[in-house]
Amino acid sequence: MQAAHLLIDTDPGVDDALAILMAHHATTVTALTIAAGNVGLRHTVANALKLIDVIGAETPVYAGCASPLVRQAADAAFVHGQDGFGDTGYVASARRAENEHAALAILRLSHEHPGRLTLVALGPLTNLALALRLDPQLPSRFARLVIMGGAVNGRGNTHLVPAEFNIGFDPEAAHIVFSNWPKFDLVDWEATVRHGLDYADFARWLEVDSPRAKFYSAISRGTRSWAQAQGRERLYSADALAMAVALEPEIVNRVQECHVAVEMNGEFTRGATVVDWENRLRRPANARIILGVDQARFEDRIKAALAAR
Ligand code: BDR
Ligand code: CA
Repeated sequence: MQAAHLLIDTDPGVDDALAILMAHHATTVTALTIAAGNVGLRHTVANALKLIDVIGAETPVYAGCASPLVRQAADAAFVHGQDGFGDTGYVASARRAENEHAALAILRLSHEHPGRLTLVALGPLTNLALALRLDPQLPSRFARLVIMGGAVNGRGNTHLVPAEFNIGFDPEAAHIVFSNWPKFDLVDWEATVRHGLDYADFARWLEVDSPRAKFYSAISRGTRSWAQAQGRERLYSADALAMAVALEPEIVNRVQECHVAVEMNGEFTRGATVVDWENRLRRPANARIILGVDQARFEDRIKAALAAR
């Protein structure tokens, strides 16, 4: 059975690219809506368009917000390369982004496909927050929302110690989404670390003879070396994990529903995702926190997406 049709909000980004390959291999992708995050909007849009070329798809790309809602934030070019795609000098796509803002496209597509789309958020939640402010009824028109974001026990991956990048980049946007979307799946950084990939296995998967694997091998070379130089024992692909959960809900083998809020203040705590694990506040659980997935099925999805033509 084909997975649900997807609308992907993303800031490509090397791991976003893998997630987008997985999505196109498995189902219909209705649109990519693009935010700034890993790098500036000019690059994240160009990267999305290029990736659609490599895939050979016709997925429309909508440019969204060029900055967080309230405060400027540092990007992640030191991980993903100055252009967000490993600085390979790829030939830019001749395609253009559509002539509609990402937040407006999210609203329109939700009306055109009511109850049928799964929304997968792989970047800062800026576009989504804007769409929610424009229309608070938005959640009722999506089948499901899957968010890659947060660090549920405070073990983040940014200089804001407990913050994960997507939430730390735009905490106000995350606050709007977390406090207005009744129930979403949350794939956090700590789950990403538990579901790391073996570097040598991954390198082998990239050797398959396919244009997608060739392109992904080139754009991910820098981040793979960077991760190993950091002493990371495995390769972490946060957005790929979130995409596996979006495509195959049954892949989840451990989950807990909790209320999760976003901290917007503090020199070191801004962007933290605060989880009421013991339900002390008696607030409705907004997040299904994904604690574990079937690793073999996750890896199979990655392999298949890279080998696809
Ligand atoms: C998240 O931050 C970005 O750098 C990645 O693309 C991923 O979405 C991981 O913290
Ligand atoms: Ca991302």
